[in-house]
Amino acid sequence: MQIINNPAEMQKTAESLRLKHQFIAVVMTMGALHEGHLSLIRLAKEKAGTVILTIFVNPRQFSPEEDFHRYPRSFEKDAAMAKAAGVDYLFAPDTALMYAEDSQTQVSTGDIASRFEGAARPGHFNGMATVVLKLMLISKAHLAVFGEKDAQQLAVIKRMVQDLNIDITIVSAPIVREPDGLATSSRNIYLSSEERKQATVLYKSICRAAELVKQQITDSEKIIQEVTSVIESAPDAKIDYASIVDSVNFTETTLLKTGVDYLLVLAVKIGRTRLIDNGRLRI
Ligand code: PAJ
Repeated sequence: MQIINNPAEMQKTAESLRLKHQFIAVVMTMGALHEGHLSLIRLAKEKAGTVILTIFVNPRQFSPEEDFHRYPRSFEKDAAMAKAAGVDYLFAPDTALMYAEDSQTQVSTGDIASRFEGAARPGHFNGMATVVLKLMLISKAHLAVFGEKDAQQLAVIKRMVQDLNIDITIVSAPIVREPDGLATSSRNIYLSSEERKQATVLYKSICRAAELVKQQITDSEKIIQEVTSVIESAPDAKIDYASIVDSVNFTETTLLKTGVDYLLVLAVKIGRTRLIDNGRLRI
């Protein structure tokens, strides 16, 4: 596994791989690698001859009051995990090389990015989309794998690829969960052991919603009421949002129609830690 820190060098390497007819997949992360990230790498390896893993804690997608400075960083461990998983190139750029001091251009996301995470975290999706586009251009990948854990991020990226004619295939990977159902996340380490126990209510509420849909309950409000009561059974849980949306445009729905893919999207604070999760609903 080769480690590259310089964007120009990564781009040159990618170009020479392309000239040798290598099919390239990229997996983009902010590091603190866990089983969720590894599942993306495995999928990338199934699909492509060369896998580039990027590790970059992107300052532009954090607002000033967010956790950029305390975001977990564990480069040596990540590099060992990446190597063991069969990554060919680990691209971990220096921030100064990614963003020139006088850089002026960014991606402006639209409607899909305006709600839920976009409303809760102003500027987040523009910062995310900008770095994702840069990493696509630097890695020259034919294919990129993203996790369904960040469902709205995935929808925003798919829309950007479509809107800007980006020549890349987006592949999505299912959510990896801990044995008790909590979605694996780098931010789970912020939870105290008591909060960690309470955090299982997110997945429990997703299962409850799926059960109701199975019983042909199509009234969103009724499903959300039940979801809310499952989540609020945890004393330290505070719901930021809990909604049922269509999975492409992230518009809220009142009545579930047959044959359409919906998502129950959740953002819940457990103590001071904000967790997001989602589950697919289909009638
Ligand atoms: P990060 O949170 O590190 O996640 C990197 C990728 O791993 C994303 O595609 C995310 O959806 C996926 N992922 C995280 N946890 C997962 C889980 N439990 N199951 C399946 N996939 C999971 O998302 C980002 O970084 C950044 O916004 C990034 C796209 C790298 C741009 O900076």
